[in-house]
Amino acid sequence: MVTERVKELISEIEQITVTSKDQLEAFRLRYISKKGVVTELFEGLKNIPQEDRRAVGQELNTLKNLAQDRFQEFNAAIESASDANPEMVFDLTLPVVPNQQGSLHPLTIVRRRIIEIFERMGFNVSYGPEIEKDWYNFSALNFADNHPAREMQDTFFISKSQGEVKDDVLLRTHTSNVQVRLMERQKPPIRSIMPGRVFRNEAISARAHCVFHQVEGLYVDRNVSFKDLKDTLYHFAKEMFGKESKIRLRPSYFPFTEPSAEIDVTCFICKGKGCNICKYSGWVEIAGSGMVDPNVLTNCGIDSEEYTGFAFGMGIERITMLRYGINDLRLFTENDVRFLRQFEGA
Ligand code: DAH
Repeated sequence: MVTERVKELISEIEQITVTSKDQLEAFRLRYISKKGVVTELFEGLKNIPQEDRRAVGQELNTLKNLAQDRFQEFNAAIESASDANPEMVFDLTLPVVPNQQGSLHPLTIVRRRIIEIFERMGFNVSYGPEIEKDWYNFSALNFADNHPAREMQDTFFISKSQGEVKDDVLLRTHTSNVQVRLMERQKPPIRSIMPGRVFRNEAISARAHCVFHQVEGLYVDRNVSFKDLKDTLYHFAKEMFGKESKIRLRPSYFPFTEPSAEIDVTCFICKGKGCNICKYSGWVEIAGSGMVDPNVLTNCGIDSEEYTGFAFGMGIERITMLRYGINDLRLFTENDVRFLRQFEGA
């Protein structure tokens, strides 16, 4: 009787297939657990006549080992299937974790906007090196050898030349170096804007930093006039800060432009009424500019009798701070996500 039952169970176990964790648990309960059929048969051993007990015991052991081997086999198959096939372990009905989207850095947003506005006016984009020779950063731009901007407190020098000042190597202090490189390699007409990173040896504070960004502009051709400069920047101001914006030019001085002017735009926070951003003047300064000094054209191999040009330079940080009401320059480089997240979708 018992032998018949064991044979039945052996063939049952041999034929069974188990493909899920639920089926595996059912298998375990039926053949392996303490309440399963195999244990029950072992318990019945004591009722078997003494002389048969040994043989039946052996059969039962065979059954038990078979059940255990099959269990291990099924278990391993299910585990490896769920590794290869993640649906078997991940509950696809769970709600998804919302996708955290990064945001553009505010300086990137503003730089792109500036580029876009000038590109529509026919300017292309040029780049130049951050490690630069004095010639491109200063000398070619008409800085006299003893100009105060060359002093150690302003400029980070990489190496001082044994010979001439123009061969010193430094970190560029402005993007005007790209003007020189462009004029050296390209004949007019030249109409380009030059975004980039600049360096000055300044103590870091809310209003000053040793690394910041500028966009340089240059237009050189026959008959380029001061009016072209004014119109270009007026159009830029309207596009950047709003249709009602006006600009104002204040006489200024730069070694590389003559005449030179500082460009102010009507304060777009208070619309010119006066607020603490514009220090109650109604105007905020956005750029330096001027007509390219004939000496600079000559230094770059361009005939200053034939060609004229205008140039301008603006600080990206400054425009970004004005545009978003940011009051501390250090926020741009700290990478605090609580700051950066505020520009999501901007
Ligand atoms: N390079 C100047 C600076 O860093 C900005 C500037 C002023 C650039 C006048 C120009 C310009 O091209 O014409 O302060």
